[in-house]
Amino acid sequence: MDLGGTGPDDNRWVKDPNWQALSFALDKAARDSLEAARDKDIDRLLKGGYELYPPCEACHLIFNPGVVNL
Ligand code: HEC
Repeated sequence: MDLGGTGPDDNRWVKDPNWQALSFALDKAARDSLEAARDKDIDRLLKGGYELYPPCEACHLIFNPGVVNL
């Protein structure tokens, strides 16, 4: 999916393979976490949490370095 948002750089970012891979990783971790929560499976939910954060940091390092220190 290469659908941009409303920001000035969005259409350029969404065509970048790093952006696509990190967005996909974030989306997958979120879906896995949602499914785990619905199943009330705490182990899978924790695993989803650990998978959720790394794409945030990796993406900010490439596309928005200023946000890393927040
Ligand atoms: C695919 C790339 C990508 C992923 C994954 C991503 N971000 Fe971001 N994030 C950005 C970009 C790019 C911006 C800056 C947007 C802009 O300047 O228009 C941003 C901005 C932010 C901001 C706003 C900071 C500010 O300066 O106001 C926060 C907070 C944030 N992200 C948190 C997160 C969290 C938490 C996650 C993971 C759950 C995440 N982001 C995942 C790319 C990403």
